[in-house]
Amino acid sequence: MKVNGATKWAGVIGWPVEHSRSPEIHNRWIEQANVDAVYIPLPVPIEKLESVVRALPDMGCVGVNLTVPHKEQVLPFLDAVDDVAQRIGAVNTIVMRDGKSEGYNTDAYGFWQNIEISAPNVKRDHAFVIGAGGAARAVVVALDAAGFGKITVMNRTPERAESLCDLSDKIEVAAWHENVPAVDLLVNTTTLGMQGQPELELELSALPAHAAVNDIVYTPLETGLLKQAKAQTLQTVDGLGMLIYQAEKAFELWFGVTPECSEIRNILTDERSED
Ligand code: ATR
Repeated sequence: MKVNGATKWAGVIGWPVEHSRSPEIHNRWIEQANVDAVYIPLPVPIEKLESVVRALPDMGCVGVNLTVPHKEQVLPFLDAVDDVAQRIGAVNTIVMRDGKSEGYNTDAYGFWQNIEISAPNVKRDHAFVIGAGGAARAVVVALDAAGFGKITVMNRTPERAESLCDLSDKIEVAAWHENVPAVDLLVNTTTLGMQGQPELELELSALPAHAAVNDIVYTPLETGLLKQAKAQTLQTVDGLGMLIYQAEKAFELWFGVTPECSEIRNILTDERSED
């Protein structure tokens, strides 16, 4: 990679940010698309977020991604926020246009693109979502847009699940640890099952044979939930695709080029199996 005076830059703002896989993804695509740009990790603590974000349009920045813990807090610091991001209440991508910062949420796109590619025939009658954080809000907005007839949300803290009801009139709330009914698509948006976290304990026996199970956790790639679903011969969709497709949309917004997604998946999973 050659950096010179004309090189554009983008990056990811997080705290901490060193575990982010976005620099590997975007720098690979920058190289492939032959774009004169570089993508860097930007470690920014919460109390510095406003000053950093407000300075970006004056620093030749093309755009940035935001990760934990900044996606919700960043909204008031932007010049404009797109409708989907406003509805979700979280921004994961900022685009600089004419010296102004514009906020987008590409997580909803990334989530649904992953399902469409990995489980294209999934029935859209009833989805069951576990969790009610920022990721769940993006998932619910995507499921609503995809035309699901009913979306059940189950969360440890029920008030947070209730607060998702303003996103769609298709939402109903289930009590924590209620048995999973016969739904078409089950999605885990919590951190349960992630490396170092407890497993998500669920009874999946009521799921019909055509059901698909998706975990947005991707470390490990095959979570306990996905193993359990596989053992029941259900379709499974891991979380790496959501990471890749949210990045695809961000890359398109910044550089106007659609990157090659299948190759990056192989690269990320090869590295993972060498861990
Ligand atoms: P994100 O923005 O990535 O969705 P978040 O807003 O911190 O992150 O949400 C994390 C989700 O994981 C929440 O649904 C949280 O449940 P609570 O709302 O009850 O906190 C869920 N979660 C995290 N740890 C959990 C645990 N040990 N048991 C059950 N749910 C858990």
